[in-house]
Amino acid sequence: MSKILAFSGSSSSKSINQQLVNAVVRRFSNIEVTVIDIRDFPLPVFSVDIEEADGIPENAERLKKLFTDHDGFIISSPEHNGSIPTIFKNLVDWLSRMGGKVFQDKPMLLMSASPGQGGGKTNLDNLLKLMPWWGGEVVGSMSIGGFSEVFDSESGDFTDTDLEDQLKKIIGSLNKVI
Ligand SMILES: Cc1cc2nc3c(=O)[nH]c(=O)nc-3n(C[C@H](O)[C@H](O)[C@H](O)COP(=O)(O)O)c2cc1C
Repeated sequence: MSKILAFSGSSSSKSINQQLVNAVVRRFSNIEVTVIDIRDFPLPVFSVDIEEADGIPENAERLKKLFTDHDGFIISSPEHNGSIPTIFKNLVDWLSRMGGKVFQDKPMLLMSASPGQGGGKTNLDNLLKLMPWWGGEVVGSMSIGGFSEVFDSESGDFTDTDLEDQLKKIIGSLNKVI
């Protein structure tokens, strides 16, 4: 059976992107999904000096094994100053030093959420350009702005039914190739 690895690119314990990932994951049936919190894999800020002195950190090895053991990804990334959050980019930098492409030519859904209306779209657009280079085959993407207006954090689900159609479409895209 295919397995998907799901995570957000956030360093926040209250991450709306992680909430989004959790809600999307629940809509997958017949596919095993592993949800991780990348905060559980702390890594030093990448440095060639650290790499030379200490080698690859154990948490990078753990992440690489998870990436290898799964057949695709569901990722939602916040936008920090128009760009990818440091914690997420740092993970990519470490994994890029371990041979092969970071996302191993596997399919993924790529999303972003923000409290403001922008939906993290600047970063999402940039990630859509970068992912093929990092070995991620994006089969569906969506950004959600004004997150609290369309999502109830208490129930952990969407309050906006219009979003369901968009979600169904991208979920179908991943289901088709996984
Ligand atoms: C350092 C920092 C920079 C941010 N920059 C942006 C930004 O460029 N665009 C944006 O839409 N939101 C920005 N935000 C607001 C984030 O969208 C918001 O904090 C969001 O909740 C982050 O997602 P998360 O809850 O999943 O961590 C920024 C937040 C922080 C802490």
